[in-house]
Amino acid sequence: MGQEQARIFHPRPEWLPAAHVPSLSQYERLYQRSVEDPHAFWGDIAKEFYWKTPYTGPFLNYNFDVTKGKVFIEWMKGATTNICYNVLDRNVNEKKLGDKIAFYWEGNEPEDSMKITYKELLHKVCQFANVLRSQGVKKEDRVSIYMPMILELVVAMLACARIGALHTIVFAGFSADSLCERIIDGGCCLLVTADAFYRGDKLINLKQIADEALQKCKDRGCPLKKCIVVKHLGREELAVAGTCSKSPPLKRLCHDVQGKQTESSQRFHPKIPWTPGRDMWWHEVMSGASTDCEPEWCDSEDKLFILYTSGSTGKPKGVLHTVGGYMLFAATSFKYVFDYQPEDVYWCTADIGWITGHSYVTYGPLANGATSVIFEGVPTYPDVGRMWSIVDKYKVTKFYTAPTAIRLLMKHGEEPVRKHSRKSLKVLGSVGEPINPEAWLWYYRVVGEERCPIVDTFWQTETGGHMLTPLPGATPLKPGSAAFPFFGVVPAILNESGEELEGEAEGYLVFKQPWPGMMRTLYGNHPHFEATYFKKFPGYYVTGDGCKRDKDGYYWITGRIDDMLNISGHLLSTSEVESALLEHPAVSESAVVSHPHSLKGECLYCFVSLRVGYEFTKSLEDELRKQVRDKIGPIATPDYIQYAPGLPKTRSGKITRRILRKIARDDHDLGDTSTLADPSIIDQLFSNRCNTKQ
Ligand code: WTA
Repeated sequence: MGQEQARIFHPRPEWLPAAHVPSLSQYERLYQRSVEDPHAFWGDIAKEFYWKTPYTGPFLNYNFDVTKGKVFIEWMKGATTNICYNVLDRNVNEKKLGDKIAFYWEGNEPEDSMKITYKELLHKVCQFANVLRSQGVKKEDRVSIYMPMILELVVAMLACARIGALHTIVFAGFSADSLCERIIDGGCCLLVTADAFYRGDKLINLKQIADEALQKCKDRGCPLKKCIVVKHLGREELAVAGTCSKSPPLKRLCHDVQGKQTESSQRFHPKIPWTPGRDMWWHEVMSGASTDCEPEWCDSEDKLFILYTSGSTGKPKGVLHTVGGYMLFAATSFKYVFDYQPEDVYWCTADIGWITGHSYVTYGPLANGATSVIFEGVPTYPDVGRMWSIVDKYKVTKFYTAPTAIRLLMKHGEEPVRKHSRKSLKVLGSVGEPINPEAWLWYYRVVGEERCPIVDTFWQTETGGHMLTPLPGATPLKPGSAAFPFFGVVPAILNESGEELEGEAEGYLVFKQPWPGMMRTLYGNHPHFEATYFKKFPGYYVTGDGCKRDKDGYYWITGRIDDMLNISGHLLSTSEVESALLEHPAVSESAVVSHPHSLKGECLYCFVSLRVGYEFTKSLEDELRKQVRDKIGPIATPDYIQYAPGLPKTRSGKITRRILRKIARDDHDLGDTSTLADPSIIDQLFSNRCNTKQ
């Protein structure tokens, strides 16, 4: 670590004079209370929310120790509430925020935007909740949502929450196979999707992908019979027909079928495949639906949503969150970590299809009555200054993004950033993967002009909200460190034998006691939940990340220590990519490792062995790449595919990925290779490495 990077950035007096937590000692005081007396700490916070009936049992009840019985976590069981009521009706009726903007929506095209107030959002949500009920959706049913970043996505998820149905949102970049897998695992009864959308200049024909998924579901006997489709790309037609009042005329860049820009004056609209009887247009079912809808009063421990995340077995895991604890944790972490103030305009660039979007686009900001920006597009379209032009357009004060976006913009230099004012910015956030000190410093110096603290937030789909993070007014910052635990979070670092390490140390990052927003189970597979997170070190929740604690007590995440990869902040397991490759008839064996990448953080480096009769050609390589892309989605596209005449294995037949990782990096310092069944394979693999110079 260079001297520059070891620097500490102390909170400056001009940083947030009205900060919720203005000093480190105050953080420490609040923190101590939160972990020593969770009941008092979270109980006080719970009083700010609406509960139909108070809790009846213990405030917190749990078992983290698999050796003592079933693992379970319950916060405020017996209390009844509704999260949708709390994030909308409470703001409109009690806090009188009905006319406040809930979201500014910024479309892919810069001139395409809308806004929606809390009251308008509440009405739309009630209407869609009534639509869902009229389609027979009831409490505990699962609704799959596969949509671009549009306001209807927020409406759909909150409508589910309002009637006690579980939303299970699938990122719109996932493939038909991935969507089908998740619909079947969740036993979903209805799908909400959209016609099509543009990401930058690329057309995504979403309904067509959804249709392929539904066909696959049908072939596998899945009972899903209903699909509601938002006319998003086609909404000018609605505006013309007068069916949709909120449609600014879209000035068009035009695109042909491949998504290339064309000269024509008409924007290309794909033909939307349609299955009568199953498919319904959103605007048709919404028209005439009542804007009143009594919420379903749910137990604090009732299920709220399922969100799939990669698992090391290759099959995605359905992470399940419940109502009460998640609500308190998302709301509280949003308030403190971004030091939320009522006049803020907050913008989180994450897609709602990931947990960051669930907690910090929808639930956290709305629970606080915040005004946020939702952005449909990408940081580089129509040019690499787009983010900053949005910041200026809406006078964004708090901005939350991923290191991969920062590195991408860094590559284009300072000029596109400096061209925009950005003077509204007050706090910058980072999430999804370790942020390298170089990117941190660029974010701090260039984007924030040394005026804005950076909150590097470490957390997971499973944790529901921030676990390790600085607080803007309180924490001296070290570039690359996620600093200290958030309220209610008790981290520990364990060695391989499960002993807690004190002081300066490096090892497995675990958490010792439950926090309100933690997952409760893997949907439909509690034994897998226990085995994945609680078995290795009984009594602890195991994150799967490695971590260092320095002499000042700062935590530094060192990355995954299981078979997971983090591509542009998105987790993937090596085995899901390996099984996608194995489905190709030419592949007899495959092994996938991570490789450092200057923009994505990590990328995929794949080794494949072929069946007799196949030859490793450029066209086969392209086919394999496509295979993975089709099977999982574009984020999983391999950067490198290397032919492997054989793979390094132990005598018991286990592939040694440790060695493959070194081969991919051209690192000849292999350590002990004596356990390999056939060490000669290593030279052959080194000799036909892919060229990894970027
Ligand atoms: C990684 C995303 C370092 C980590 C919210 C974790 C991070 C995984 C950080 C969870 C960070 C997330 N610093 N690493 N600030 N944030 N990670 O479930 O490996 O998509 O386990 O949740 O991302 O990814 P997930």
